[in-house]
Amino acid sequence: MRAETIATYPIAGALGAEVSGIDLARPLSNPETEAIRQALWNHKVIFFRSQSLSPKGLLRVAGIFGGIYRVPFVRARDDFPDIIDIVKEAEDDNKYNFGGVWHSDATFEACPPMGSVLYCLESPPHGGDTLFVNMEAAYAALSDVMKTTLDGMVALHSAERNYGSGGYFTDDKKQGVSMSIEPSAEGDKLMEHPVVRTHPETCNKGLFINPIYTMRFKGMPTQESQPILNFLYNHAVRPEFQCRFGWTTGALAIWDNRCTMHFSINDYAGYRRHMNRVTIAGDRPR
Ligand code: OGA
Ligand code: MN
Repeated sequence: MRAETIATYPIAGALGAEVSGIDLARPLSNPETEAIRQALWNHKVIFFRSQSLSPKGLLRVAGIFGGIYRVPFVRARDDFPDIIDIVKEAEDDNKYNFGGVWHSDATFEACPPMGSVLYCLESPPHGGDTLFVNMEAAYAALSDVMKTTLDGMVALHSAERNYGSGGYFTDDKKQGVSMSIEPSAEGDKLMEHPVVRTHPETCNKGLFINPIYTMRFKGMPTQESQPILNFLYNHAVRPEFQCRFGWTTGALAIWDNRCTMHFSINDYAGYRRHMNRVTIAGDRPR
């Protein structure tokens, strides 16, 4: 199959497109690889249906975009340490849900991931969709005064709410049956990032904050920061900045973690959902 057979179909106004005409299990030609990269820059999150990928194949797909980022705190697969199993068992009911707060991945790092590849090994019969938002569209819709104010600001990020020494997952009851999350004092440290980052491929500006890892603005206490952050989160997740993807077994998503947030919906109690994720290394936000 040549690159010309690849077609993209947007699934919403703000972001997200399904890509058809490609079998990701085959070795890809250079034009195909370039078409997939362009599709991600254009749509921010891209989806492929009915793929049949081995773990090695999944790692190769991530390799289109860069090196691998090894996820801390979450136990990886024993056989493939660069892949994490994201699984909610039927018996987890609705008590546990990985990714169920709006976020972009691992922004507590100096160099947060460029993106992630998420592959569905088993979808529930209904529910378990993932939502995404376009953080560049959210930024663009702010007033000029707000944009200028935020342009000069820095935010402090940390894994502490989730993975820190007093974080959510220190309570064993919050763990899923089949996932193992290991919080530690490593999760407590703070990392500075610009509140507005410029995408290195497109040069678009986007908001780079999220309610799970952003703690406050640099130079402002929590009481001052939180109302502004809350406004920005409510603004960013407005429906017109979103898309929503319904998983089927064999579907694969690749998102650009630099200009989006995502959220996994916990609405399939009593059913199993099993995903594999490979995370792509990124660079320092600027
Ligand atoms: C993730 C994540 C969402 C989902 O893999 O980073 O947040 O829907 N997953 O499984
Ligand atoms: Mn995530």
